[in-house]
Amino acid sequence: MSNRPPRAADRTRPAVLPAAGLLPAAAAPARLRVGVVGAGRVGAVLGAALAAAGHDVVAAAGLSTDSQRRAARLLPGVPLRPADEVVATSDLVVLAVPDDTLSGLVTGLAETGAWRRGQLLFHTSGAHGLAVLAPAERAGVLSLALHPVMTFSGGPEDLDRLVAAPFGVTSRPEHRAVAETLVLEMGGEPVWVAEGDRGLWHVALVTGANHLVTLVAEAADLLRTAGVDDPARVLTPLLTAALEGGLRRGDQALTGPVSRGDVGTVAAHLQTLTERAPSSVDAYVAMARRTTERALASGRLRRHEGTPLLDLLDSAEEAAR
Ligand SMILES: NC(=O)c1ccc[n+]([C@@H]2O[C@H](COP(=O)([O-])OP(=O)(O)OC[C@H]3O[C@@H](n4cnc5c(N)ncnc54)[C@H](OP(=O)(O)O)[C@@H]3O)[C@@H](O)[C@H]2O)c1
Repeated sequence: MSNRPPRAADRTRPAVLPAAGLLPAAAAPARLRVGVVGAGRVGAVLGAALAAAGHDVVAAAGLSTDSQRRAARLLPGVPLRPADEVVATSDLVVLAVPDDTLSGLVTGLAETGAWRRGQLLFHTSGAHGLAVLAPAERAGVLSLALHPVMTFSGGPEDLDRLVAAPFGVTSRPEHRAVAETLVLEMGGEPVWVAEGDRGLWHVALVTGANHLVTLVAEAADLLRTAGVDDPARVLTPLLTAALEGGLRRGDQALTGPVSRGDVGTVAAHLQTLTERAPSSVDAYVAMARRTTERALASGRLRRHEGTPLLDLLDSAEEAAR
């Protein structure tokens, strides 16, 4: 199956939702009663997006003052109820809870008989696919995993950022049209992810987004140690160009000492870090090694240029033990 998103021209509401067995097969677009568990950064925003698409958000769950504040702002007038009551009143349940609570919540709701045959359900976790929803599926709930690839702060500004945001979609093949319709309705672009690839999908995004933040913060700290007052000013043009190059040309965008096989410079970096920022040595060695391996694999470095680099990094690792 292609994982290419539908074209923007398809951004109308196709009449696929009645296929879920929920709705009258009328010509009018389906209007679902939506329940949001819980009203966190993601849930409150997706609830607002579904309301904007014409659905009726009937209840939300959330005990903390943060959830109550977000619900009041993004889901005005929507009552806050316990999760089982939210499920009982909804055609479509959005489960936007921390990854580690998802399994227990779905199972607990199944044990109390909360799920109803014919309901729609999606969770928003990147780390999970469909397996975590199995107890609801067994109760006859059409279950989907719709992961928005976006960072959410839980404010109204997130709604704008949803426009054309990719959503990782995992569903049974026969439910794919329902999943894609919901994503399009929320303003996103569906990207198909097979159940077996879900773990790798999340690793990739964490590597790209979370580790990038760590790398940037690390570079900024090293510049501060070098006496630079405003590291962001120095880094912004370079890092923006590197990001754009990496996205467009992958390994071919690589510049710097590893791309030139410049062993002397890498050895000097290791010496400097050992003296001035020893806690950064391990990360530098790991990234330099991976950069070298990728440069070799992509033809940016020849074997006789890469081997001395790998030998140097082996020695540095050995010395650190
Ligand atoms: N934040 C992001 O940028 C982002 C992006 C994409 C995907 N996601 C995914 O979206 C999901 C939600 O993340 P989030 O950032 O929105 O989390 P969050 O801001 O911490 O909100 C979590 C919500 O779940 C509720 N909750 C926690 N445990 C619960 C339970 N056992 N039963 C019922 N409700 C419970 C919380 O309610 P209380 O108020 O009662 O604590 C809160 O409303 C996660 O799977 C996350 O990986 C997050």
